[in-house]
Order: sequence, then C-alpha cells, then structure tokens
Amino acid sequence: MLCFSQRQSSMMAPLAFPFLLLLLSFSASSSEAGSIGINYGRVANDLPTPSKVVELLKTQGLNRVKLYDTDATVLSAFANSGIKVVVAMPNELLSKAASDESFTDAWVQANISKYYPATQIEGIAVGNEVFVDPNNTTKFLVPAMKNVHASLSKQNLDAAIKVSSPLALSALQSSFPASSGSFKSELVEPVIKPMLEFLRQTDSHLMLNAYPFFAYAANADKISLDYALFRDNPGVVDSGNGLKYSNLFDAQIDAVFAAMSALQYGDVPVTVSETGWPSAGDSNEVGAKPENAASYNGNLVKRVLSGSGTPLKPNASLDVFLFALFNENLKTGPTSERNYGLFYPSEKKVYDIPLTAEQVNGVQKSQVPPSGRVSTTSNRGQTWCVANGGYSPEKLKDALDYACGEGGADCTPIQPGATCYNPNTLEAHASYAFNSYYQKKARAAGTCDFAGAAYVVTQPPKYGNCEFPTGY
Ligand SMILES: *[C@@H]1O[C@H](CO)[C@@H](O)[C@H](O)[C@H]1NC(C)=O
Ligand SMILES: *[C@@H]1O[C@H](CO)[C@@H](O)[C@H](O)[C@H]1NC(C)=O
Ligand SMILES: *[C@@H]1O[C@H](CO)[C@@H](O)[C@H](O)[C@H]1NC(C)=O
Ligand SMILES: *[C@@H]1O[C@H](CO)[C@@H](O)[C@H](O)[C@H]1NC(C)=O
Repeated sequence: MLCFSQRQSSMMAPLAFPFLLLLLSFSASSSEAGSIGINYGRVANDLPTPSKVVELLKTQGLNRVKLYDTDATVLSAFANSGIKVVVAMPNELLSKAASDESFTDAWVQANISKYYPATQIEGIAVGNEVFVDPNNTTKFLVPAMKNVHASLSKQNLDAAIKVSSPLALSALQSSFPASSGSFKSELVEPVIKPMLEFLRQTDSHLMLNAYPFFAYAANADKISLDYALFRDNPGVVDSGNGLKYSNLFDAQIDAVFAAMSALQYGDVPVTVSETGWPSAGDSNEVGAKPENAASYNGNLVKRVLSGSGTPLKPNASLDVFLFALFNENLKTGPTSERNYGLFYPSEKKVYDIPLTAEQVNGVQKSQVPPSGRVSTTSNRGQTWCVANGGYSPEKLKDALDYACGEGGADCTPIQPGATCYNPNTLEAHASYAFNSYYQKKARAAGTCDFAGAAYVVTQPPKYGNCEFPTGY
C-alpha cells in the first residue's frame, strides 16, 4: 500500500498565485507569440534528479528546455513528457565531428536517434560560444555543423531536428547604436558567412546568447538600470535610423539583425539561446541582486509572450531560453556565475515571476482588481492535478483506486458510458480522479502528490472532451 502522506511539496508554494479573472487567462496565447524555454545546466552536485526536474518544468508550465550535453539519464527522463528539448554537442567534440562524418553518424545514432521521438529533441546546439573557446575550435565549427546535419539527414531527422550553434554577443565588433551592428571582421569570411548560409539552407535559426547584464554592469554610469530591466524609461534613440529603443535587450538583438542584414542574411531568424540576470554577485558586479533579476526575467517573459518583435523586426516574435533553471554551485568564476538560477536546488523559487501567458495575465489582472468581481475565492490558484504518465502503471492504478475509494473523489464521470470515460486510458482516468480529489481538498498543499504519481498544472488538462472541475 502506498503512503499518501500530506507532505508539503516545495513546488506548491509558488503556485499560490493570486489569480483573479480566470477566463481572460486563456485567450492570450496566440500562435504568433514568442516562446519561453529554459536552460537546464547541471554544473552542480546538489540538483534534483532529472525526473523531478521534468515534473518541476511541467508544474511551471515550461515546455521547452535546453541542455548542455546529451546525458542519457536526462534525455530518458524527458521521454513522453511533452517538453521539447535542445541538446548540445560540447566544444571538445568539434574537431572530431568536423573531420569525420562516421563520427557524427555514430554520435547521432547514440545520442539522438536512440531517444527520438519519445524525447522530443527539436534542435542540436553544435558547440557553445565557440569563438571565445580558449581552445580555438572556431575553424571546426561549420564543418562540424554540416556533418551533424548530414548524419541527421541519413536518418530522415533533419526536418525535425535543427542544427545551430549559440554565439556570444562578443561575436559583434560593433553593437551600438544597434543599426551599426557588425560582426568581427576576422570572423566574417571564415565562419559567419558560411554558418549563415548553412542556417538559411537548412531552415534553421541563429542562436544568440545575449546578456544585457554584462553591458549594464560594465557601464552602470552610462546605461540606465530601468532601460536594462525593461522598466519605464525615456528610451534610447538609435542615431543611425531614428528608431527608439525602450530596452537594452531589444537593442542587442537588433545589433545582431543589423550585422546579419549587412551580410545579406537578414532573413535568417534568431533564437535567444541564453539570457538572464544574476540574483547575487561580487561587490564589483553592479546590479546583481534578486529584485533586479526578478524584474529582468519577469519583464522579459512578458515582453516575449506578448509576441511583439524588436524595432528593426517588429513582426518577428522571439523564442527565448532563460538562463537558467537552477543556481549551479560548481560553476567557476565570479559569484554571479553561480547565481543565475530561477530555482534553488531545493526547487524553491529564488524569486517569483510569471513564466506562462496564463500567469502573466493572472498577475496583470491581480494588480487591477475589477470592482465587484472580487470574491472570497479570488486568492485561490487556478490549478489542476494530473497523473504522471511516466509513473509505473501498477502504482498509478493503486493511487487511482485510493482516490476513488477512501479518497472520496467523484469517479462517476470515468465509468463506462459516462462523459469522461474516453479516452479510456489509465493516465486519463487517474488524472480525472486525482483532480477531483485535489479540488475537493481545496487544492491544499500535498493533496496533489499521491506519492509522486501526480503533479499540479496551471492549465486545464486536455483529455478528449472531458471537462475537469476546478472547484469553483
Ligand atoms: C554521445 O555523446 C557523448 C557526449 O556528447 C560522447 O562522449 C559520446 O562519444 C557520444 N557517443 C558516440 C557514439 O559518439
Ligand atoms: C581544451 O582542450 C583540452 C584537451 O582536449 C581539454 O582538456 C580542455 O578541457 C579544453 N578546454 C576547454 C575550455 O574546452
Ligand atoms: C585560432 O585559429 C585561427 C584559424 O585557424 C587562427 O587564425 C587564429 O590565429 C587562432 N587563434 C588563436 C588564439 O590561437
Ligand atoms: C508587419 O506586419 C504588418 C501587418 O501584417 C505589415 O503591415 C507591416 O508592413 C509589417 N512590417 C514589417 C517591418 O515587416
């Protein structure tokens, strides 16, 4: 028999969000909006297991993640999770990958095909910030990308899995004003042009790691903090084209667009593969503190999910991967390096920001309560409970039986012929029962756990035409 303890889950607290108007929350996610993903770095010795991390991401409504390798345990944990994954080939493998297509064939077989499609790998970052790699791996980059792509093609995976490589902003020679953006001249012919040509031909994106924090910390006397944090500010007019910038992030992205346009590759889309702001730093790391990190990341999420583009490309919505999921205690360098996480290894939030359109709208609504609509239930989170589909079927069945039996969940709708009988799967039925139990317990902490067989979600579960009660 399982033990259904009422233990406090550390993941519950952040969900106690003050949502007010629920209906408005679900209208905002248009297909045009940009997406938010997160970098799952693991340079630490105190992180939760990968399967717990998958649950954490689901609970937070995050459905895109970027890794720094192809770790077997991590890739297996993401199987059937519904979360899209970008993996990486580390810089150390670039010279081999560049010189030998049989190496990339074996690498793709062992590290990609083995997991796909159960694990929804959507991209491969070949190397990371290669131009600043002290081992000078730049000359291997494009040949390595081409070999990885050729190996994917042989397995018919090249349409589903895109190849790119994250650049640091330091690849630019000029970035201010944004319209003057240009790549470092010594990189243009050997690597930038061939890479952009490859990205265009393979329908891929340029990946960019952009940190307004670095620019701010180095020029805090010249750059306004409000401008760096997407807060209200007078803006900065680009002296080259007269466009007005309301934040430094947009200006950095446009500097890259300008640099690409100057080489006639302005059509290649850009994905922001890393951006973030540290919640702590050394005394000389100006601005590294939790309030600023919360402002930067929270406002960035709103900016990206609004779907608006940058002044140079107002119609191009951006996909952004936040850096990073966890504080990583084994990272070297200044204190900031170990403090980019949105979460502590305990899974407790370092600071509370919205991560989904629903949460953005919930937060905005809660700031302006409409008069006459505030009821006593207004402070309850709009959350549901669903079964963990990756859990062992035996245990899921035990938990389902408990919920429908002693647990007192309303299980009539999942009986044969009733409204929620279809889809007739263990996961769907268990989800229905767990949610009923959770709502009846007024979504109290620990009531959506079932010894790990269930987790909380912030969007209405979708199983056929079944409607999941919310308890309102
Ligand atoms: C799979 O990837 C790992 C890490 O990137 C690498 O060490 C290993 O050699 C790869 N497997 C093959 C067969 O190339
Ligand atoms: C540089 O290459 C050496 C030898 O392959 C390796 O041990 C070292 O980790 C590399 N350094 C970086 C920063 O990649
Ligand atoms: C790195 O390699 C490039 C091309 O092979 C070469 O031009 C450059 O001088 C090298 N840089 C360093 C720091 O070794
Ligand atoms: C953006 O889209 C609008 C409406 O479709 C169009 O009128 C406008 O020309 C586009 N702007 C750019 C810069 O492509």
